[in-house]
Amino acid sequence: MEYRNLGRCGMKVSLLGFGGWATFGEKVRDAGVQRKIIETAREAGINFFDLADVYAKGEAERAVGKILRQYPRHELVISSKVFFPFSDDINDRGLSRKHISESIDRSLKRIGTDYLDIYFCHRFDPETPLEETIRAMDDLIHRGKILYWGTSEWSADQIRDAWTLCEKHGYYPPQVEQPQYNLLFRRRVENEIFPLTEELGLGIVAFSPLASGLLTGKYDDGLPSGSRLEQLEWLRKIILTERNIELSRKFGVLAEQAGIERPLLALAWLLRRKQLSSILLGASSPEQLQQNLRALSVEISDDLAAELNLLFSS
Ligand SMILES: NC(=O)c1ccc[n+]([C@@H]2O[C@H](COP(=O)([O-])OP(=O)(O)OC[C@H]3O[C@@H](n4cnc5c(N)ncnc54)[C@H](OP(=O)(O)O)[C@@H]3O)[C@@H](O)[C@H]2O)c1
Repeated sequence: MEYRNLGRCGMKVSLLGFGGWATFGEKVRDAGVQRKIIETAREAGINFFDLADVYAKGEAERAVGKILRQYPRHELVISSKVFFPFSDDINDRGLSRKHISESIDRSLKRIGTDYLDIYFCHRFDPETPLEETIRAMDDLIHRGKILYWGTSEWSADQIRDAWTLCEKHGYYPPQVEQPQYNLLFRRRVENEIFPLTEELGLGIVAFSPLASGLLTGKYDDGLPSGSRLEQLEWLRKIILTERNIELSRKFGVLAEQAGIERPLLALAWLLRRKQLSSILLGASSPEQLQQNLRALSVEISDDLAAELNLLFSS
């Protein structure tokens, strides 16, 4: 496993990380399977585990945290997130000082740790003054509850505004952005986020590297029973478009010509991106994770990378 600095931070994260969204506490409820997945990740050298308060309404933090407790805490980089509504309560959402302070304590308790290595603002909150959010994050660092903080799916302007305010007031700045980034969803990140993070020295952690599984080819001929896009209708509407299915099929032809399994080719394309600190894998079985981890030994030629860039350029 390769380890990279999180942006300009001294802390190193495994180039492949692992996240528990839509799997732990939801699709993957069997404790034995959960354990096997996390142990597979650790055995491969993954040290970075990504969670959020809202993943399975806290169950992902609980399940993954329980398993991670068998490892020395210093060997792990654990992240969680705050923003999305956790309940119907009017204040149990967003990036107010109140919600951040209360949500972090619940996340720490569920995971069973004294601190998070990274705490992400899961989205931008237009209803809370940016300075309030930044000060709340800065306070959490001073209080020892988190070591670094970051953003997820914030625009370049929003990140820049946060950075500027931190510089002005001497607050700890965000160190990392976590966007969706894969062959199918790449333009915004490449046009907007890459130049900004290069300029500010921020790290990027890519999520959904297989576009929720679409790039494995499993949706080429319909909806496999039990698959993520069969189960999550709202996500299916975003991802399973005619354009994406068509591209996925063409991607399959290129992969076959190259003799590389599709998920491995999609991941190998990402692994060439020096801008990324880590790529967050997701898996609903140990076998999927084992397969995807083999991407670390797949090298793709510049010609093949150029063909992929061309195919997914629209
Ligand atoms: N910040 C955010 O807003 C945000 C959003 C999304 C994700 N994330 C983070 O990123 C992590 C990874 O995202 P992701 O789960 O969307 O990653 P992904 O790799 O794009 O999708 C993972 C899913 O694809 C399917 N899959 C994976 N490998 C496969 C294989 N070899 N063969 C067949 N199917 C395969 C599985 O779903 P099925 O078996 O169920 O079909 C699996 O759960 C999350 O856990 C989370 O930590 C963050």
